[in-house]
Amino acid sequence: MKNYDNVVIFDHTLIRHKIAILRDEKTSMKEFRELVEEITTLMTYECLKNGVPTTEIEVKTPLETCKQQVVSDNSIVIVPILRAGLGMVNGIHVLFPSARVGHIGMYRDEETLEPCEYYCKLPKGIEEKLVLLVDPMLATGGSACDAIKLLKSYGCKHIKFMAIIGAPEGVSKVAEAHPDVNIYVSTLDRCLNENGYILPGLGDAGDRLFGTK
Ligand code: PRP
Ligand code: URA
Repeated sequence: MKNYDNVVIFDHTLIRHKIAILRDEKTSMKEFRELVEEITTLMTYECLKNGVPTTEIEVKTPLETCKQQVVSDNSIVIVPILRAGLGMVNGIHVLFPSARVGHIGMYRDEETLEPCEYYCKLPKGIEEKLVLLVDPMLATGGSACDAIKLLKSYGCKHIKFMAIIGAPEGVSKVAEAHPDVNIYVSTLDRCLNENGYILPGLGDAGDRLFGTK
């Protein structure tokens, strides 16, 4: 895959360790859900290391008063792409407990692999916020591209997209369609199979999170 200025592939030892367990077909639904949350927290920590909106407050220590920067919780909106993105929300809420949540419902047509939007509910004022769009799987990139297009149609200007596993095809597609969006992927897999599943991947993230298979 080409290098893109707007793409970060984490490739972090701790995250790789957790992804190895996540991939395992024997991993239980409970453990899968917990791992998705933990990986998301680690990703968020990295992804926001320079870009968290802050406000200045005065703190009185036992010795003197000083100005300090604190995170503005309400300047971030989490937007999961349903269903599987839901599994990542708590992993961000651990760090930003009062971040509001918008929802975008998309499913892939099994034949065409084209995304179909079926739901959208976003918090008021989202256009002024930093939007963290999340979905564990970035396969063809169709769902992420459409979700970003939708967010932009609501006026969102600051969007970061986080996916746990990405296929090179999908990462390139989103990076080229939306050069103004920062894309964070924990690990880049080999390719897609003929049904649009990521190889080696982890199977269907929604089914594994919610036990629907
Ligand atoms: C999965 C996944 C992404 C999408 C990725 O959702 O959670 O949203 O596929 O594929 P793409 O990059 O090719 O668009 P799915 O359509 O299976 O819906 P679900 O989460 O409701 O199971
Ligand atoms: N959606 C998934 O859940 N898994 C894949 O491998 C591709 C799309």
